[in-house]
Amino acid sequence: MLYIIDTADRDEIRRLNEYYPIDGVTTNPTIISKEHSDFLKLVKDIRDIIGPDKMFHIQVTGDTCDEIVKEARLLRTHVGGNLYVKIPISRDGLKATQILKKEGINVTVTAIFTQQQALIAAKAGADFVAPYVNRLDNIVSDGVSVVSEIVELFKKHSISTKVLAASFKTVEQIHKIAMVGAQSVTLQPALYDQLIYHPLTLYAIDDFKADWSNVYGDKSIAMMFEEKDSSVIK
Ligand code: G3P
Repeated sequence: MLYIIDTADRDEIRRLNEYYPIDGVTTNPTIISKEHSDFLKLVKDIRDIIGPDKMFHIQVTGDTCDEIVKEARLLRTHVGGNLYVKIPISRDGLKATQILKKEGINVTVTAIFTQQQALIAAKAGADFVAPYVNRLDNIVSDGVSVVSEIVELFKKHSISTKVLAASFKTVEQIHKIAMVGAQSVTLQPALYDQLIYHPLTLYAIDDFKADWSNVYGDKSIAMMFEEKDSSVIK
């Protein structure tokens, strides 16, 4: 499972990238606009924070094939690293995807709401397709079953395109998406903290501390080694 951060907030990316096993960052025009920053500086800063190897998915703003291809080439030149150009599904987007793949540019086709959008995006050469789970749930559709069928279609037709499930509001959605075999999820920062939270875990940790200090007081394992032989701990 690939874990991606769905934000352009530099402080949050720094924090999550330090603590969690993060594989990259996704953005879109809505996410970028929340930062009220110079776009070029923002994307370069994000690239610096995550380094050249982690995936960085940046969405184009152009509508026509020519505009999309031009933006994609500029992003490759100026942001570089392990870059994925995000393109919303459309006729022009599919044409651009085929051109960019011939140039070796990675493409994520986004704003996917149906299985057939995903299938044709894959046929055009998309490396990832990004279905919007919570937005499907919000229209009384079923985000998990749409993703599940996309995963199944890709398996049945031996398609190597991966599913990058997006638009999550709950840990339950993330769990179900992982269970149906989606290869990656992109999550807003707060969901990472919710993923690892459980009150029983906190109780367990409190019990460990209490039991330890009943016998050893404030002394930590490191302090014990240091007392025994200062050369043991470097
Ligand atoms: O990556 C797509 C995602 O940002 C959409 O999420 O929460 O706006 O539905 P949301």
